[in-house]
Amino acid sequence: MNVEIKEDYPQLCAAVAEQVIASVTAKPDALICIAGGDTPLGVFEALVNASNAGRVDFSHASFIGLDEWLGLGRSDKGSCREMIWHHFFDKLTLRDEQICFFDGLTHDPQAECLRVDAFIAAHQQIDIIVLGIGMNGHIGFNEPGVSPDKSCHVVDLDAITQAVSVKYFGKPLNIKQGISLGIKTIRAAKRIILMASGEKKSTIVAKTLQAEIGTEIPATLVKDHPSITLMIDRAASSQL
Ligand code: PGA
Repeated sequence: MNVEIKEDYPQLCAAVAEQVIASVTAKPDALICIAGGDTPLGVFEALVNASNAGRVDFSHASFIGLDEWLGLGRSDKGSCREMIWHHFFDKLTLRDEQICFFDGLTHDPQAECLRVDAFIAAHQQIDIIVLGIGMNGHIGFNEPGVSPDKSCHVVDLDAITQAVSVKYFGKPLNIKQGISLGIKTIRAAKRIILMASGEKKSTIVAKTLQAEIGTEIPATLVKDHPSITLMIDRAASSQL
């Protein structure tokens, strides 16, 4: 796995954004997946700036969601949907059909998985996927112990993920399940960027690099992908 270390968070986000821009430049109708969560916020900002400056044209691209908390919708602060629309989609001029995102309020999560899998299949492949690394090593909501053979699926959230979630919602919401692209879907992407920032991620970044590939640290399950780069800032690299 290639590793790129940038000096600080803004430089990291600028470099990750350039990877997305390169994908869209090479393939204007690229299918793009960018994680929710705090880590990619600066990437969204850099991409919106690049779009406004005419450096990238998303008008033929499509976007697929990575994961969502079951029980939360667009108007719920901290839902992945709320976050990505607020920081990204609302700031671009996109048509509805360019975006496929999980409905966390669905009464039929299995049907939601099939809908998302079908959208990816219709585009053949995700061209670039930008993932964060959770404190427990999860990618998307692929929690420790996950089967590597799954496409989109419903997940019982790990205790660490439930504890971390308070930072998005501002209060505990007792959400026990999520819905996520699976490891099989993620591994089928043409290009993977695994992204981490800050001292608090330095332990899991070091473990991801040092551990054997296995389900205990889900981020290791993509380490042998033919086109993956771990992109981190100096603080996240402090235990390497
Ligand atoms: P964060 O979450 O970007 O908010 O740190 C990462 C993750 O859980 O995937």
